[in-house]
Amino acid sequence: MTADRPRVLILGGTTEGYALAEALVADGRWDPVSSLAGRTANPRPPAGDMRVGGFGGPEGLARWLTDQGIAAVIDATHPFARRMGWNAATACADTGVPLLRLERPKWVPRDGDAWTLVPDWDAAVDALRTLRAQRVLLAVGRQEVAPFAVLPDVWMLIRSVQAPDPMPPFTHAELLLARGPFSLEDETALLRDQRIDTIVCKNSGGATESKLAAARALGVRVVMRDRPRRPETVTVATVDAATGWLDRAIG
Ligand SMILES: NC(=O)c1ccc[n+]([C@@H]2O[C@H](COP(=O)([O-])OP(=O)(O)OC[C@H]3O[C@@H](n4cnc5c(N)ncnc54)[C@H](OP(=O)(O)O)[C@@H]3O)[C@@H](O)[C@H]2O)c1
Repeated sequence: MTADRPRVLILGGTTEGYALAEALVADGRWDPVSSLAGRTANPRPPAGDMRVGGFGGPEGLARWLTDQGIAAVIDATHPFARRMGWNAATACADTGVPLLRLERPKWVPRDGDAWTLVPDWDAAVDALRTLRAQRVLLAVGRQEVAPFAVLPDVWMLIRSVQAPDPMPPFTHAELLLARGPFSLEDETALLRDQRIDTIVCKNSGGATESKLAAARALGVRVVMRDRPRRPETVTVATVDAATGWLDRAIG
């Protein structure tokens, strides 16, 4: 840490968080510290400083901001991280520290898409019943597959980076361990070879959208979980826009 450079907290653990830390270190005007939740055993270290683990709610974060002399906070957490953005909004309002949200844009349906939008996984299960889905690509993350084990007549292809542990009691399921992003060609071949009729995924946005283009081309339906509600915060979509904001907010 350098006393003459404003210290910036990045709530990270995402592609955007890593890219922003790199950009701030390269720029040299700010002193970034990235915060990771600590869910991953050996996380890739970001550029600049890093801290790991929860702050203890909005009050803990507010104390930490003051103790560390943080000049600005950039919330770059994942669009499906439900709590951290709210904690940051409260802590920044209470301490007067400027807050920016850096968030990758949502995917939006295009001509030819057959999406069913759902607010949560229970609604996704209902949608699979209504759609009479038979062969499903479940791309929801390994910790979120359990609600789908209640559909005994549906074959599930569970795609995740690591295996669900424990594996919920699926009647007909196969595990496909793979890490995206995937090419359009590979996604098309997968949907076709496995005769997938429906994909279930969440609207993360970003580089894993080939599956959506493949689904559009093949007429495969998509059950898409919408993003959770977030606080009203100034939001940008790119690292460049975030550094521009920092420049204006704290110079
Ligand atoms: N949910 C997803 O689909 C997803 C996908 C990819 C990556 N991630 C990343 O994994 C992390 C945890 O996800 P989640 O869904 O559990 O989030 P969450 O519901 O927003 O956060 C739960 C609690 O974890 C702590 N926390 C979250 N992000 C933190 C961070 N960057 N630094 C320090 N503490 C943090 C906070 O604890 P305290 O209240 O004690 O401060 C927070 O209240 C997030 O940083 C997110 O960006 C999530």
